This record gives sequence, structure tokens and C-alpha cells, in this order.
Amino acid sequence: MAKIIVVTSGKGGVGKTTSAAAIATGLALRGNKTIVIDFDVGLRNLDLVMGCERRVVYDLVNVIQGEAGLNQAMIRDKRVDNLFILPASQTRDKDALTSEGIERVLEELNKDFDYILCDSPAGIEQGAQLAMYYADAAVVVTNPEVSSVRDSDRILGLLASKTRRAERGEDPVKEHLLITRYNPARVDDGDMLNLEDIREILAIDLIGLIPESEAVLRASNQGIPVAHDQGSDAGQAYVDTVSRLLGEDVPLRFHEYQKKGLLSRMFGGGRR
Ligand SMILES: Nc1ncnc2c1ncn2[C@@H]1O[C@H](COP(=O)(O)OP(=O)(O)OP(=O)(O)O)[C@@H](O)[C@H]1O
Ligand SMILES: [Mg+2]
Repeated sequence: MAKIIVVTSGKGGVGKTTSAAAIATGLALRGNKTIVIDFDVGLRNLDLVMGCERRVVYDLVNVIQGEAGLNQAMIRDKRVDNLFILPASQTRDKDALTSEGIERVLEELNKDFDYILCDSPAGIEQGAQLAMYYADAAVVVTNPEVSSVRDSDRILGLLASKTRRAERGEDPVKEHLLITRYNPARVDDGDMLNLEDIREILAIDLIGLIPESEAVLRASNQGIPVAHDQGSDAGQAYVDTVSRLLGEDVPLRFHEYQKKGLLSRMFGGGRR
């Protein structure tokens, strides 16, 4: 039985696709057969972040509309054995995804996989609701800004009311908070919300904190999920996040502003 995890946010551009790719990679590196599905019809970002965009032939919509089988559309990751990607289509209209179609795809994957990650589109409309509908757990990606926290709160409302688990009165979708693009220096300066404020407002389990990091941009330019860059702060933070998802107790890192010593100030840039 696969565990279905939706990576969602409400507000756009907060790091969902980056996180879905990194967490899927981390889960697969830990030996779990994992697939990450791009629900962002029309944008198709996940395959770029995963570095497989040139290998996309069929996509989720083709599968749902019966034009291709799952095996034709799934792309095997070139770095990690038990990791697969199901891309979104770039051109079709967003209404091409149907709830019944997604249910069929998930049921077929359920037999084979340990984890199914759903990379949600931004917003709280139809596409985002479809991405979360069948989820067992949700990673709610939030930046340390008022607008992002507010939109995450709206997503928590949807998770509690508009999912299959909610409709059937089953155990609720397990909600996890993932704070991304955290910049302790800017938090110290009062430009951003701090960790405690965010936790107090959203009041759900904190699964990880990913610092603002150049490693993310570098990784996405190279099409190599940042979880592979385990020398980087963001790479390590995603590895920690995956360990917590697997039930391990890992202390939080990267949330405190480290004042730079003289040497790193001379050679290593400033506070950002
Ligand atoms: N920890 C981070 N540090 C620096 N940049 C980051 C970090 N996380 C994400 N980004 C950058 O933020 C931008 C948005 O990230 P991403 O595409 O993952 O967000 P998204 O939530 O999937 O966006 P959308 O809502 O459009 O799907 C990208 O340019 C990405 O490289
Ligand atoms: Mg995205």
C-alpha cells in the first residue's frame, strides 16, 4: 500500500516543486519505491527540476484520457533506481484532470509503490483540490511571510473538509508544516516572520525548515534535485525532513542566524 503525500501551499512560488522533487529523491534514496506526480497542468515544472524534460513523451493527462498507459508515461529517474516521475502536460487545459481519472491512476500505482508524492499547483481552486483529494498526508509549504502563512491556513481548512478522508469521516489527512526559504538574518531584522510566530499561527507538526539557499537555484538549473547536494545547507535540511517523515527524531537546524567570523566575512560574502 502506497502512502499518498500532497505537497501543497495556497500561495504560489513558495517551493512546492523544489520540495516535492527533493523529498521524493530523499525517500527513494532511503530505499522506498517512490513516484512524484506533477499536477500542475499547463506549467510542467517538475520534469525540469528532476532533469528529465527531454524524455517526456506522454503525461498524466494522456494516461487519464486513455491515450497512453502508465508505464509509457512514467519516467525512471536516471540517478536513483526506485524513483519515478509522472509529468504534467504543458499545453492542455486544466479541466483535463478528472477526479475519477486520478483515482484510477493512484489505484494502479498503489500496488507498486511505497510513496506517491503529488506536486500541487498553486491556489485553492480545482487543480489544487484534485491534487490533495486522495492524500493520506500533506506537506504544507510555507514561506516566512504573512501572505504565505495566511494561504497555508486556508489550505489547512480545505484539507480538513474537501478531501476523501474528510468526506468519508476517516482519520484526517496528516498535516505537516514545511517552512522554506527561511533566512535567519532577515528574520532577525524583522523583515520576515520568525519560526515561533509561524508555528503559533498554523499550529501543525513541523516536519522541516529549509533555509534560503543558492544551492536550490544551482540544483534547479542543473536539473538535479537539491537532496543530492548533501554538502549544502538546503540539501541537508531536506535529508532531515525526509528522516522526520520516516518517523525519526531529528533536531532542527538552520533556523538561527550565525554571525560570521572575520575570515568568512572577508572571504565568504555578507549576511545574505
Ligand atoms: N530554499 C530555497 N532557497 C532559495 N530559492 C528557493 C528555495 N526554494 C525554492 N526556491 C526558488 O523559488 C522559486 C519557486 O520555487 P518552486 O518552483 O519550487 O515553487 P512552487 O511553489 O512549486 O511554485 P508554483 O506555485 O509556481 O508551482 C524557484 O525559483 C526556486 O528555485
Ligand atoms: Mg510548482
